[in-house]
Amino acid sequence: MKFIKRSHIVFQSIPVILILMLLSQCGLQDRRGREDKISVSDREIYRKVDSLMALMTLEEKIGQMSQRFVPGVTNDLLASIRNGRVGSLLNGLSNFYGPEERNMFQRAAVEGSRLGIPLIFGHDVIHGFRTIFPVSLAQSCTWSPGMVEQASVIAAREASASGVDWAFAPMIDVSKDPRWGRIAECYGEDPFLNAVFGAAVVKGFQGSDVSRTDKLVACLKHFIGYGAAMGGRDYQYTDIPDIDMHEVYMVPYKAGVEAGALTVMSAFNDINGIPATANEKLVRETLKDQWGFRGFVVSDWDAVIQLIDHGIAKDDEQAAIKTVRAGVDMEMKSDAFLQLPGALDEGKISEDIIDDAVRRILYVKFRKGLFEHPYTDTTRIRTDLLTPENRQFARKVARASMVLLKNEHHILPLSGKNRSVAVVGPFAKESELMGWWKSTGKTSDVVTPFNGMKENAPAGLTVTDRIGSTTDLIIACVGEGRDLFGENHSRSNLRLPGNQEDFLSSLRKWNKPVVTVVFNGRPLDLTGVTGNSEACLLAWHPGTEAGNALADVLYGNYNPSGKLTTSFPRSVGQIPVYYNHRNSGRPDKNKYVDETSEPLFPFGFGLSYTTFAYDSLSLSSDLIQPGDSLVVSALVSNTGNTAGNEIVQLYIRDLYGSTTRPVKELKGFRKIFLQPGESAKVSFIVGSEDLTVPDKNFHPVTEKGTFDVWVGPNSAEGLIEDFELTDGR
Ligand code: GLC
Repeated sequence: MKFIKRSHIVFQSIPVILILMLLSQCGLQDRRGREDKISVSDREIYRKVDSLMALMTLEEKIGQMSQRFVPGVTNDLLASIRNGRVGSLLNGLSNFYGPEERNMFQRAAVEGSRLGIPLIFGHDVIHGFRTIFPVSLAQSCTWSPGMVEQASVIAAREASASGVDWAFAPMIDVSKDPRWGRIAECYGEDPFLNAVFGAAVVKGFQGSDVSRTDKLVACLKHFIGYGAAMGGRDYQYTDIPDIDMHEVYMVPYKAGVEAGALTVMSAFNDINGIPATANEKLVRETLKDQWGFRGFVVSDWDAVIQLIDHGIAKDDEQAAIKTVRAGVDMEMKSDAFLQLPGALDEGKISEDIIDDAVRRILYVKFRKGLFEHPYTDTTRIRTDLLTPENRQFARKVARASMVLLKNEHHILPLSGKNRSVAVVGPFAKESELMGWWKSTGKTSDVVTPFNGMKENAPAGLTVTDRIGSTTDLIIACVGEGRDLFGENHSRSNLRLPGNQEDFLSSLRKWNKPVVTVVFNGRPLDLTGVTGNSEACLLAWHPGTEAGNALADVLYGNYNPSGKLTTSFPRSVGQIPVYYNHRNSGRPDKNKYVDETSEPLFPFGFGLSYTTFAYDSLSLSSDLIQPGDSLVVSALVSNTGNTAGNEIVQLYIRDLYGSTTRPVKELKGFRKIFLQPGESAKVSFIVGSEDLTVPDKNFHPVTEKGTFDVWVGPNSAEGLIEDFELTDGR
């Protein structure tokens, strides 16, 4: 690590107040304490809910708590809907049915059932609906919450036009284990970033008025700790100490609740012996009672009956009882809740628990406006999907998510000196680049890497799909197929699958520079890739505009600015390796005998076609009191000859406290654009409430002490200063 100790106090107008307002919104610190005010409009909704519930039979209440999955229309299902036995339909990844079918199901509920309560239609809108954006982990590498929010606005417009009311997203499960296939769906290893991006998706989906017909109800998932799966194997046991639960896994959910998310999904995993879906302490006591969450909680797919497999329920009835007692209000797919009337008759459960669940579900349906406008305008599907504007924005997000890891001798961007490039490798003509949750995205919509490079080639440059004697430079496209990451696709090996590394080393015989482009879903062990490449670009699964975005970066029409939000390991043996770890009592001895403890590429890392320098780190004071804040500023300069974005990062370290603390914690970031030779003073406001530690009840408290603070380009470099937090006396 290279730290330059400078002392230089400079005052600066504070353009970054927004970051800290977002920070405060991220629930890192609940500055004002949460007032449980219920708005006038909500009071009106609850009045309607209560009068409707007074008319409902117990069977109709249980019906609202039931979400059914249908591959298609069946008479049994229509009959169940007309009998008020269904509250929601899950429109699946395969054979998605469109607005006409949706309206047909909805008519059965609204016009065919006794009380006419509308259904709410859910679907996995994870990173796009028909226009597919990069996988979420890639989107987080843009470090642009605004971009991610806008992508969610577009996805909501497309999905709602197709009959969807409710997206099962954002997925905000912090993960430090790239073996876990679903790391692709989250926003990296840092709780603060998952909080920022989760809140951005909620705002994009729900907007300021979720009842609008182009908005979706959001769903924070998977509550909670799903990313800590033992061995990185999906669905496995999670052993999570309280301090990690509070300081890591809860942070994004608290931020999502504060952002107004109306639903939460309970996770599959067992948490220290109590599976999430039966975990009353976390769901009812923490999420609902402490945090004041007033939406509803849906189980994950069959997670209710899987309590039997977990060994915490002997049968469906006990699984149903434990689930609703825990505070899970709706059952996805399975039908154990049909046992609840019997359980009620036998006094095993009280009706007020069922009433609370139904009240929450109806509250969300009213908030979504389903009682006012239950049907989808079927004309929108012809105009709102895969528009040129949507594609153009997907291209912007994709290129901003790409991370330049190596660029020897400035071989990139491709320049006029190249006359002929060969775009080769197993992913050169791949169109399956939309990740695992590709919703209704079509491979026929995807611009392949080869086509993107060929169609956007500058005059005078020939693009071929094979290497020949006239080839100046090789672009090798490698990666992970869609079937190697995502749900239930964990890997024990993090190297490129198959013989792709042999393919890369075989290119050396051509004695031409090699630019390797990796199409991945998770952090990989790239030691065998970068060693065989003059340049390496991480392209992720970039979605519909893959090839165009790649061309923008490689041809220099866009200067890459993406930065990693997960550490990239040197080997699978290093897992877990992450930046915000504790220090240990022998920090100089925490290595392996055969490997360093540092990752190949650290959290926050990413190169540009230009260079940036950091100078003049200054603090408005070297002492702050509780309730105070200080301004941390640095001068950032573009010292190269290309304009570009730089993601300036702010980290702190609490050097000692009543508990050990991470060696670094990301507390803010700014993405700035600088012309060659231009400089900017970047300032952050650090409040004492951003420096808290958990007390024995895990409530955030400030403790006097000394803090290091860094401003830098990634988690392994930067300018350092320190300051004291007093105890106010
Ligand atoms: C899956 C996933 C969850 C998804 C749900 C519905 O098993 O765990 O993320 O939203 O089922 O498809």
